[in-house]
Amino acid sequence: MRKKITIIGAGNVGATAAHWAAAKNLGNIVLLDVVEGIPQGKALDLSQSGPVEGFHYKVQGSNDYNDSANSDVVILCAGLARKPGMSRDDLLAINVAIVKSCAEEAVKHSPDCILIVVTNPIDAMVHTAFKVTGHPKEKVIGMAGVLDSARYRTFLADALGVAPKDVNALVLGIHGDNMMPMVRLANVAGVPITDLLSKEEIDAIVHRTQTGGLEIVNHLKTGSAFYTPGLAAVEMAEAVLTDSKRVLPCAAYLEGEFGVSGYFLGVPVVLGEKGVEKILEFELTDEEKEALQLSVQAVEKQMQATGL
Ligand code: LAC
Repeated sequence: MRKKITIIGAGNVGATAAHWAAAKNLGNIVLLDVVEGIPQGKALDLSQSGPVEGFHYKVQGSNDYNDSANSDVVILCAGLARKPGMSRDDLLAINVAIVKSCAEEAVKHSPDCILIVVTNPIDAMVHTAFKVTGHPKEKVIGMAGVLDSARYRTFLADALGVAPKDVNALVLGIHGDNMMPMVRLANVAGVPITDLLSKEEIDAIVHRTQTGGLEIVNHLKTGSAFYTPGLAAVEMAEAVLTDSKRVLPCAAYLEGEFGVSGYFLGVPVVLGEKGVEKILEFELTDEEKEALQLSVQAVEKQMQATGL
């Protein structure tokens, strides 16, 4: 049976996610948006890449949630993106209403779906989706760790002159200024980065990772990043659809893991057909525990602002 993926929001991130999902032959794709014509036009255009790229699944554009029925995975990207001078938190008031209605509709039409939330501020928006739908916590997951870790790995690879794929590095915590690029765990094919780069070089890379989204917003001026955010969501969807048990950093609902309860934050999770199948908890140093508390405080503040 063909798998089905619905992508809500046919803007830059959603359309790019559709592009990656089609290229990876993951299943039938429904691109959904409230704006008439945009999802239909983009989906039709993308479907015509099939003969060239060699994918055989359907790509459909729609304004109707009925077309999303019984999706295996729903990727929720609808909402506004940042412009220069805006923080992710500035998007909260408007995006919370969008995420509420999209998440409710998505789960109503696909009661068994795994819901991947991409809309910013991600950690609060995934929590919003979880609260308003009452969907099981394992089935509601926030994207961000894959994106932030990809940025971290790219900057490390550039500094070291090595293939990005061979850099293993993890970013935990919130998708915001207090995110935690983990230094002691980062390595190149097993060799610790602390043996390969100076403290100053590592500090600069950590800072560039933390402000990686802003760097792109400042270049683009009209919006925020979309190639790697779209791909990151699709990498998570792929792990679910293929039941691969990939270990990816994702925003998962924590109930005591890493000493955090009642919030979504980025942690390493095992992703399979059931969604978050396991959280890989490990001992943090005192410094890391303090850094994680900054993430908790930031997401607490965001959640207060949602009024939920
Ligand atoms: C970024 C946006 C997706 O980090 O938050 O680029």
